Amino acid sequence: MPVIVDPSPEAIARAAAALRSGQLVAFPTETVYGLGADARNPDAVAAIFRAKGRPVDHPVIVHLGGAEAVDAWARRVPHDARALAAAFWPGPLTLILPARDEVSRRVTGGQDTVGLRVPSHPVALELLRAAGDGVAAPSANRFGRISPTRALDVAEELGDRVALILDGGPTEVGLESTILDLSGPAPRLLRPGAISAAAIEEVLGRPPQAAGAGAPRAPGRLDRHYAPGTPTYLVESDRLASRVRTSSAGLGVVARQPEPLGFAGSWRQLPHHPDAYGRRLYATLRDLDAAGLERILIEAVPPSAPWAAVGDRLRRAAEPEPVEVPGG
Ligand code: TXA
Ligand code: MG
Repeated sequence: MPVIVDPSPEAIARAAAALRSGQLVAFPTETVYGLGADARNPDAVAAIFRAKGRPVDHPVIVHLGGAEAVDAWARRVPHDARALAAAFWPGPLTLILPARDEVSRRVTGGQDTVGLRVPSHPVALELLRAAGDGVAAPSANRFGRISPTRALDVAEELGDRVALILDGGPTEVGLESTILDLSGPAPRLLRPGAISAAAIEEVLGRPPQAAGAGAPRAPGRLDRHYAPGTPTYLVESDRLASRVRTSSAGLGVVARQPEPLGFAGSWRQLPHHPDAYGRRLYATLRDLDAAGLERILIEAVPPSAPWAAVGDRLRRAAEPEPVEVPGG
């Protein structure tokens, strides 16, 4: 198993040295844990793709220690990008910008744009500053699986494929960063996250467009992604009670509603506030997925803007409720 270490100054220095020598290091961010490699070292970046089992044409985000570093990676930095960076960095916002020619196409997945983000987790910032340059880091999970929000999740996902895991405790946001594409004529929201469309609109003076067809390839935008291995279904709130038989010992449920009396399965009640819900969602799904259940039902969340990021992840983790859940 990999070494999980507390993020002492010595451990962070060791992790930074490992990055500089081409090794992979997992580290906490405020969103989810990342699997980092020196973004200037194409062999190290290639090792990320091998460790994750990820197709090479999927780009990875370059994490920076400060907004002043964007010009070293982006060929052109529009005013919108500067304004959003000033408003939200360090923080859970990734900006897609035209890439400088020297940025490795392993990082960009062969495209001529690059995703950039300055994370706010103090351990991530210290590591990035100690590493001295951009760190390419996708979420530290195997391709297509739930992003890790705890150090042990990373160890479980990647095993010996990662030498060192910095343990920053459970992550604060719990869902991946908002991704905004600023490389085209109009800002486009590629992935909803903790920085909402409304917050972006407040800075830009106009709302970002929703990602449409022809959007750049991003695995978070495949239909099935962030998925547990256990068959998982989304159920509307008002139908949940009728879908849950008290005898369903092999059933896991993720709901905002409280557990009904006498329920024999595994009920996980999550908070009514979307931020608190998002913080706990992935750990909850991961724990249920490990419990050897027959299936998992997730109570759908409201279609309102505050739930956009959670709703997006639920739609990728779960299938719509089948007409009749077998045996349910
Ligand atoms: O919160 C996060 O963003 C976490 C932490 C570790 O920072 N990272 C993360 O990385 O979620 P990843 O690789 O699992 O998801 C990043 C998404 C992918 O869907 C990728 O395709 C997209 O960002 N992306 C990266 N660069 C891109 C680019 N140049 N154009 C379009 N999409 C891009
Ligand atoms: Mg990911």
